[in-house]
Amino acid sequence: MKIEAIPGVPQDGDMEFVLATDKEFEEIISISHGIYGGLDYLPSRYHSWINEKDRMVVLAKKGGMVIGLLSMFIIDNGETALLEGLRVAPWERGRGVAGVLQRFCCKLVKHRYPSVRVLRLTRDDKLSAKELNKYRLISTQGILLLGFNAPDFASRLSSLDLPLEITRQPPPVLLTPEDVRDVFMEQGGLLKDLLPSQTLIQDWQPFQALPTNHDLLLRKSLRWMVDDLAVPQVATICTAPFPIPAGPHCFYLNIDVFGTELWCVQEQLLCHLRAHVPTLPGEVRCQLFLPPEMWKPMADFCTSVLGLHLEKGYTEQYLLESDM
Ligand SMILES: CC(C)(COP(=O)(O)OP(=O)(O)OC[C@H]1O[C@@H](n2cnc3c(N)ncnc32)[C@H](O)[C@@H]1OP(=O)(O)O)[C@@H](O)C(=O)NCCC(=O)NCCS
Repeated sequence: MKIEAIPGVPQDGDMEFVLATDKEFEEIISISHGIYGGLDYLPSRYHSWINEKDRMVVLAKKGGMVIGLLSMFIIDNGETALLEGLRVAPWERGRGVAGVLQRFCCKLVKHRYPSVRVLRLTRDDKLSAKELNKYRLISTQGILLLGFNAPDFASRLSSLDLPLEITRQPPPVLLTPEDVRDVFMEQGGLLKDLLPSQTLIQDWQPFQALPTNHDLLLRKSLRWMVDDLAVPQVATICTAPFPIPAGPHCFYLNIDVFGTELWCVQEQLLCHLRAHVPTLPGEVRCQLFLPPEMWKPMADFCTSVLGLHLEKGYTEQYLLESDM
Protein backbone atom coordinates (compact mmCIF):
# COMPACT_ATOMS: atom_id res chain seq x y z
CA MET A 1 0.00 0.00 0.00
CA LYS A 2 1.47 3.37 -1.03
CA ILE A 3 2.72 5.78 1.64
CA GLU A 4 1.73 9.44 1.37
CA ALA A 5 4.43 11.88 0.25
CA ILE A 6 6.45 13.25 3.18
CA PRO A 7 7.60 16.84 2.57
CA GLY A 8 11.35 16.92 1.94
CA VAL A 9 11.66 13.11 1.79
CA PRO A 10 11.88 11.84 -1.80
CA GLN A 11 11.18 8.12 -2.32
CA ASP A 12 14.17 7.81 -4.62
CA GLY A 13 17.07 5.45 -5.21
CA ASP A 14 16.44 1.81 -6.02
CA MET A 15 14.43 1.22 -2.85
CA GLU A 16 10.70 1.83 -2.46
CA PHE A 17 8.88 2.05 0.90
CA VAL A 18 5.28 0.84 1.24
CA LEU A 19 2.88 -0.09 4.03
CA ALA A 20 2.58 -3.85 4.56
CA THR A 21 -0.64 -5.64 3.61
CA ASP A 22 -1.84 -9.26 3.93
CA LYS A 23 -0.58 -10.10 0.48
CA GLU A 24 3.13 -9.74 1.38
CA PHE A 25 2.90 -12.25 4.28
CA GLU A 26 4.52 -15.22 2.46
CA GLU A 27 7.35 -13.05 1.14
CA ILE A 28 8.08 -11.80 4.66
CA ILE A 29 8.09 -15.33 6.04
CA SER A 30 10.58 -16.34 3.37
CA ILE A 31 13.07 -13.54 4.27
CA SER A 32 12.64 -14.35 8.00
CA HIS A 33 13.87 -17.92 7.88
CA GLY A 34 15.89 -18.89 10.97
CA ILE A 35 15.88 -15.50 12.70
CA TYR A 36 15.79 -15.10 16.52
CA GLY A 37 16.87 -18.76 16.77
CA GLY A 38 13.37 -19.92 15.75
CA LEU A 39 11.60 -17.70 18.33
CA ASP A 40 10.28 -15.20 15.77
CA TYR A 41 6.99 -13.69 16.95
CA LEU A 42 6.19 -11.89 13.68
CA PRO A 43 4.44 -14.79 11.86
CA SER A 44 1.82 -14.97 14.61
CA ARG A 45 1.46 -11.15 14.93
CA TYR A 46 1.73 -9.94 11.34
CA HIS A 47 -1.98 -9.89 10.45
CA SER A 48 -3.00 -8.09 13.64
CA TRP A 49 -0.04 -5.69 13.42
CA ILE A 50 -1.00 -4.41 9.97
CA ASN A 51 -4.44 -3.40 11.29
CA GLU A 52 -3.39 -2.17 14.75
CA LYS A 53 -4.17 1.41 15.72
CA ASP A 54 -1.11 3.68 15.93
CA ARG A 55 1.15 1.08 14.33
CA MET A 56 2.89 1.25 10.97
CA VAL A 57 4.47 -1.79 9.36
CA VAL A 58 6.77 -0.51 6.61
CA LEU A 59 8.33 -2.67 3.90
CA ALA A 60 11.40 -1.84 1.83
CA LYS A 61 11.08 -3.19 -1.71
CA LYS A 62 13.65 -3.47 -4.48
CA GLY A 63 12.58 -4.45 -8.00
CA GLY A 64 9.13 -5.16 -6.55
CA MET A 65 10.51 -7.70 -4.01
CA VAL A 66 10.38 -7.27 -0.23
CA ILE A 67 13.90 -6.84 1.13
CA GLY A 68 13.18 -5.42 4.61
CA LEU A 69 10.52 -4.82 7.27
CA LEU A 70 10.29 -2.50 10.24
CA SER A 71 7.36 -1.64 12.48
CA MET A 72 6.85 1.53 14.49
CA PHE A 73 4.26 1.47 17.28
CA ILE A 74 3.23 4.73 18.97
CA ILE A 75 2.80 4.31 22.75
CA ASP A 76 3.24 6.24 26.03
CA ASN A 77 0.60 8.93 25.32
CA GLY A 78 1.99 9.43 21.82
CA GLU A 79 5.47 10.32 23.12
CA THR A 80 7.33 7.13 22.19
CA ALA A 81 7.83 5.35 18.87
CA LEU A 82 8.66 1.70 19.54
CA LEU A 83 10.81 0.08 16.84
CA GLU A 84 9.97 -3.62 16.37
CA GLY A 85 10.25 -6.56 14.01
CA LEU A 86 13.28 -5.25 12.08
CA ARG A 87 14.60 -7.66 9.47
CA VAL A 88 16.43 -7.50 6.15
CA ALA A 89 16.47 -10.21 3.45
CA PRO A 90 19.57 -12.44 3.87
CA TRP A 91 21.00 -11.46 0.44
CA GLU A 92 20.80 -7.72 1.30
CA ARG A 93 22.31 -7.83 4.81
CA GLY A 94 25.47 -5.90 5.71
CA ARG A 95 24.84 -3.12 3.15
CA GLY A 96 23.12 -0.58 5.38
CA VAL A 97 19.50 -1.38 4.39
CA ALA A 98 18.39 -1.48 8.06
CA GLY A 99 19.75 2.04 8.60
CA VAL A 100 18.04 3.48 5.48
CA LEU A 101 14.74 1.82 6.49
CA GLN A 102 15.02 3.17 10.04
CA ARG A 103 15.73 6.70 8.91
CA PHE A 104 12.75 6.63 6.53
CA CYS A 105 10.45 5.27 9.27
CA CYS A 106 11.59 7.93 11.75
CA LYS A 107 10.68 10.65 9.23
CA LEU A 108 7.30 8.99 8.61
CA VAL A 109 6.63 8.89 12.39
CA LYS A 110 7.57 12.56 12.83
CA HIS A 111 5.29 13.46 9.90
CA ARG A 112 2.28 11.50 11.20
CA TYR A 113 2.84 11.84 14.97
CA PRO A 114 4.54 15.18 15.75
CA SER A 115 4.09 14.49 19.50
CA VAL A 116 6.68 11.67 19.46
CA ARG A 117 9.82 12.64 21.37
CA VAL A 118 11.82 9.43 21.68
CA LEU A 119 12.53 6.22 19.81
CA ARG A 120 12.74 3.05 21.91
CA LEU A 121 13.76 -0.49 21.06
CA THR A 122 14.67 -3.72 22.84
CA ARG A 123 17.52 -5.94 21.63
CA ASP A 124 19.49 -8.94 22.80
CA ASP A 125 22.53 -8.63 20.55
CA LYS A 126 25.77 -6.85 21.40
CA LEU A 127 25.83 -3.20 20.31
CA SER A 128 28.63 -1.79 18.18
CA ALA A 129 30.61 1.22 19.50
CA LYS A 130 28.72 3.41 17.01
CA GLU A 131 25.37 2.14 18.30
CA LEU A 132 26.42 2.71 21.93
CA ASN A 133 26.89 6.35 20.94
CA LYS A 134 23.54 6.48 19.18
CA TYR A 135 21.40 5.10 22.04
CA ARG A 136 20.97 5.58 25.80
CA LEU A 137 20.82 2.27 27.69
CA ILE A 138 17.67 2.43 29.84
CA SER A 139 17.61 -1.02 31.43
CA THR A 140 19.02 -4.53 31.26
CA GLN A 141 17.20 -7.80 32.04
CA GLY A 142 18.73 -11.31 32.05
CA ILE A 143 17.27 -13.82 29.56
CA LEU A 144 16.69 -17.43 30.60
CA LEU A 145 15.59 -19.69 27.73
CA LEU A 146 14.13 -23.09 28.62
CA GLY A 147 12.85 -25.93 26.47
CA PHE A 148 10.62 -28.89 27.28
CA ASN A 149 8.05 -31.25 25.89
CA ALA A 150 4.62 -30.16 27.17
CA PRO A 151 2.86 -33.56 27.53
CA ASP A 152 5.95 -35.01 29.23
CA PHE A 153 6.28 -32.07 31.65
CA ALA A 154 2.50 -32.01 32.29
CA SER A 155 2.66 -35.62 33.48
CA ARG A 156 5.39 -34.67 36.03
CA LEU A 157 3.92 -31.33 37.18
CA SER A 158 1.80 -32.75 39.99
CA SER A 159 4.58 -34.92 41.48
CA LEU A 160 7.49 -32.45 41.52
CA ASP A 161 9.69 -32.56 44.58
CA LEU A 162 9.42 -28.85 45.47
CA PRO A 163 11.51 -27.08 48.13
CA LEU A 164 9.56 -26.55 51.37
CA GLU A 165 9.97 -22.78 51.09
CA ILE A 166 7.77 -22.81 47.98
CA THR A 167 5.05 -25.02 49.42
CA ARG A 168 4.94 -22.78 52.54
CA GLN A 169 4.38 -19.59 50.54
CA PRO A 170 0.85 -18.17 50.47
CA PRO A 171 -0.51 -18.70 46.93
CA PRO A 172 0.19 -15.89 44.45
CA VAL A 173 -2.65 -13.63 43.31
CA LEU A 174 -3.89 -13.68 39.71
CA LEU A 175 -4.83 -10.08 38.91
CA THR A 176 -8.11 -8.85 37.49
CA PRO A 177 -8.03 -5.95 34.97
CA GLU A 178 -8.93 -3.55 37.81
CA ASP A 179 -6.06 -4.93 39.95
CA VAL A 180 -3.71 -4.43 37.02
CA ARG A 181 -4.65 -0.78 36.86
CA ASP A 182 -4.09 -0.30 40.59
CA VAL A 183 -0.88 -2.25 40.84
CA PHE A 184 0.88 -1.25 37.64
CA MET A 185 -0.66 1.73 35.98
CA GLU A 186 -1.80 4.43 38.35
CA GLN A 187 0.77 7.14 38.92
CA GLY A 188 2.87 5.98 41.87
CA GLY A 189 1.59 2.43 41.29
CA LEU A 190 2.63 -0.16 43.84
CA LEU A 191 5.17 -1.78 41.57
CA LYS A 192 6.90 1.44 40.57
CA ASP A 193 10.06 0.55 42.49
CA LEU A 194 10.24 -2.99 41.11
CA LEU A 195 10.15 -2.00 37.46
CA PRO A 196 13.53 -1.38 35.80
CA SER A 197 13.65 2.39 35.16
CA GLN A 198 9.93 2.40 36.00
CA THR A 199 9.28 0.71 32.67
CA LEU A 200 7.11 -2.34 32.33
CA ILE A 201 8.66 -4.53 29.64
CA GLN A 202 6.09 -7.05 28.45
CA ASP A 203 7.21 -9.50 25.76
CA TRP A 204 9.94 -7.12 24.47
CA GLN A 205 7.58 -4.10 24.51
CA PRO A 206 8.51 -1.38 27.02
CA PHE A 207 5.58 0.57 28.44
CA GLN A 208 5.78 3.45 30.84
CA ALA A 209 3.41 2.96 33.77
CA LEU A 210 0.82 5.35 32.32
CA PRO A 211 -2.93 4.80 32.46
CA THR A 212 -3.13 5.27 28.68
CA ASN A 213 -1.05 2.12 28.18
CA HIS A 214 -3.47 0.15 30.34
CA ASP A 215 -6.11 -0.55 27.65
CA LEU A 216 -3.42 -1.50 25.24
CA LEU A 217 -2.02 -4.10 27.64
CA LEU A 218 -5.46 -5.42 28.53
CA ARG A 219 -6.15 -6.17 24.86
CA LYS A 220 -3.53 -8.92 25.16
CA SER A 221 -4.49 -12.20 26.86
CA LEU A 222 -1.95 -11.99 29.66
CA ARG A 223 -1.71 -13.63 33.10
CA TRP A 224 -0.62 -11.03 35.63
CA MET A 225 0.46 -12.26 39.06
CA VAL A 226 1.81 -10.76 42.28
CA ASP A 227 2.74 -12.39 45.57
CA ASP A 228 0.68 -9.91 47.57
CA LEU A 229 -1.84 -7.34 46.40
CA ALA A 230 -1.17 -4.82 49.17
CA VAL A 231 2.65 -4.91 49.20
CA PRO A 232 3.92 -6.72 46.11
CA GLN A 233 7.55 -7.90 46.16
CA VAL A 234 7.36 -9.84 42.92
CA ALA A 235 5.19 -9.50 39.81
CA THR A 236 5.17 -11.68 36.73
CA ILE A 237 3.38 -11.35 33.39
CA CYS A 238 2.95 -14.38 31.15
CA THR A 239 1.80 -14.32 27.52
CA ALA A 240 -0.76 -16.75 26.17
CA PRO A 241 1.17 -19.49 24.31
CA PHE A 242 1.68 -18.80 20.61
CA PRO A 243 3.21 -20.85 17.77
CA ILE A 244 6.78 -20.15 16.67
CA PRO A 245 8.84 -21.41 13.72
CA ALA A 246 11.27 -23.41 15.95
CA GLY A 247 9.50 -26.65 14.97
CA PRO A 248 6.14 -28.19 14.09
CA HIS A 249 3.59 -27.60 16.90
CA CYS A 250 6.25 -25.67 18.84
CA PHE A 251 4.77 -23.04 21.17
CA TYR A 252 6.34 -20.13 22.99
CA LEU A 253 5.70 -18.62 26.40
CA ASN A 254 7.22 -15.31 27.41
CA ILE A 255 7.37 -14.47 31.10
CA ASP A 256 8.56 -11.09 32.37
CA VAL A 257 9.68 -11.05 36.00
CA PHE A 258 9.93 -7.99 38.28
CA GLY A 259 11.36 -8.36 41.78
CA THR A 260 14.01 -10.56 43.35
CA GLU A 261 12.30 -12.69 46.06
CA LEU A 262 13.43 -16.08 44.78
CA TRP A 263 10.67 -18.26 46.25
CA CYS A 264 7.97 -15.93 44.98
CA VAL A 265 9.41 -15.95 41.46
CA GLN A 266 9.63 -19.75 41.50
CA GLU A 267 6.09 -20.11 42.77
CA GLN A 268 4.66 -17.73 40.16
CA LEU A 269 6.56 -19.47 37.37
CA LEU A 270 5.03 -22.78 38.49
CA CYS A 271 1.52 -21.26 38.48
CA HIS A 272 1.93 -19.95 34.92
CA LEU A 273 3.29 -23.29 33.75
CA ARG A 274 0.51 -25.25 35.47
CA ALA A 275 -2.07 -23.06 33.71
CA HIS A 276 -0.63 -23.40 30.21
CA VAL A 277 1.42 -26.59 29.86
CA PRO A 278 -1.51 -29.09 29.96
CA THR A 279 -3.10 -27.29 26.99
CA LEU A 280 -0.02 -27.58 24.73
CA PRO A 281 0.59 -30.38 22.21
CA GLY A 282 4.38 -30.63 21.86
CA GLU A 283 7.64 -28.74 22.27
CA VAL A 284 7.70 -25.46 24.21
CA ARG A 285 10.26 -22.68 24.44
CA CYS A 286 9.77 -20.63 27.58
CA GLN A 287 11.75 -17.41 27.89
CA LEU A 288 12.04 -15.62 31.21
CA PHE A 289 13.23 -12.00 31.40
CA LEU A 290 14.41 -11.26 34.90
CA PRO A 291 16.75 -9.14 37.03
CA PRO A 292 20.28 -10.29 36.05
CA GLU A 293 21.10 -11.61 39.56
CA MET A 294 18.09 -13.94 39.38
CA TRP A 295 19.37 -15.78 36.31
CA LYS A 296 21.64 -18.31 38.06
CA PRO A 297 19.31 -19.36 40.90
CA MET A 298 16.35 -19.59 38.50
CA ALA A 299 18.39 -21.58 35.95
CA ASP A 300 19.37 -24.02 38.75
CA PHE A 301 15.75 -24.35 39.91
CA CYS A 302 14.37 -24.88 36.39
CA THR A 303 16.93 -27.51 35.45
CA SER A 304 17.38 -29.43 38.72
CA VAL A 305 13.91 -29.17 40.33
CA LEU A 306 11.64 -28.83 37.27
CA GLY A 307 13.83 -30.96 34.96
CA LEU A 308 13.64 -28.42 32.10
CA HIS A 309 16.33 -28.04 29.45
CA LEU A 310 18.50 -24.93 29.43
CA GLU A 311 18.54 -23.89 25.76
CA LYS A 312 21.41 -21.38 26.08
CA GLY A 313 23.62 -19.62 28.61
CA TYR A 314 23.17 -16.14 30.11
CA THR A 315 22.20 -13.41 27.66
CA GLU A 316 20.68 -9.97 28.15
CA GLN A 317 17.80 -7.88 26.91
CA TYR A 318 18.61 -4.19 26.49
CA LEU A 319 16.09 -1.38 26.44
CA LEU A 320 17.53 1.46 24.33
CA GLU A 321 16.35 4.96 23.63
CA SER A 322 17.30 7.88 21.40
CA ASP A 323 15.77 11.30 20.77
CA MET A 324 13.62 11.65 17.67
C1 LIG B 1 19.92 -7.09 12.05
C2 LIG B 1 19.62 -6.77 10.61
C3 LIG B 1 18.22 -6.19 10.50
C4 LIG B 1 20.61 -5.69 10.16
O1 LIG B 1 20.30 -5.30 8.81
P1 LIG B 1 21.45 -4.81 7.81
O2 LIG B 1 20.82 -4.06 6.69
O3 LIG B 1 22.29 -5.98 7.44
O4 LIG B 1 22.22 -3.79 8.75
P2 LIG B 1 23.72 -3.25 8.59
O5 LIG B 1 24.71 -4.16 9.22
O6 LIG B 1 23.96 -2.93 7.16
O7 LIG B 1 23.63 -1.99 9.57
C5 LIG B 1 23.09 -0.81 9.14
C6 LIG B 1 22.26 -0.15 10.21
O8 LIG B 1 21.34 -1.02 10.89
C7 LIG B 1 21.39 -0.82 12.30
N1 LIG B 1 21.13 -2.11 12.97
C8 LIG B 1 21.80 -3.25 12.81
N2 LIG B 1 21.26 -4.19 13.60
C9 LIG B 1 20.23 -3.60 14.26
C10 LIG B 1 19.29 -4.05 15.22
N3 LIG B 1 19.31 -5.31 15.68
N4 LIG B 1 18.37 -3.19 15.69
C11 LIG B 1 18.34 -1.92 15.26
N5 LIG B 1 19.21 -1.44 14.35
C12 LIG B 1 20.15 -2.27 13.86
C13 LIG B 1 22.79 -0.34 12.53
O9 LIG B 1 22.84 0.42 13.73
C14 LIG B 1 23.06 0.52 11.31
O10 LIG B 1 22.45 1.79 11.53
P3 LIG B 1 23.08 3.14 10.87
O11 LIG B 1 23.00 3.00 9.38
O12 LIG B 1 22.17 4.23 11.40
O13 LIG B 1 24.47 3.21 11.39
C15 LIG B 1 19.78 -8.00 9.67
O14 LIG B 1 21.07 -8.55 9.85
C16 LIG B 1 18.74 -9.06 9.93
O15 LIG B 1 17.66 -9.06 9.32
N6 LIG B 1 19.03 -10.01 10.85
C17 LIG B 1 18.06 -11.02 11.23
C18 LIG B 1 16.94 -10.43 12.07
C19 LIG B 1 17.42 -9.71 13.32
O16 LIG B 1 18.31 -10.19 14.02
N7 LIG B 1 16.82 -8.54 13.59
C20 LIG B 1 17.20 -7.74 14.72
C21 LIG B 1 16.06 -7.46 15.62
S1 LIG B 1 16.62 -6.84 17.20
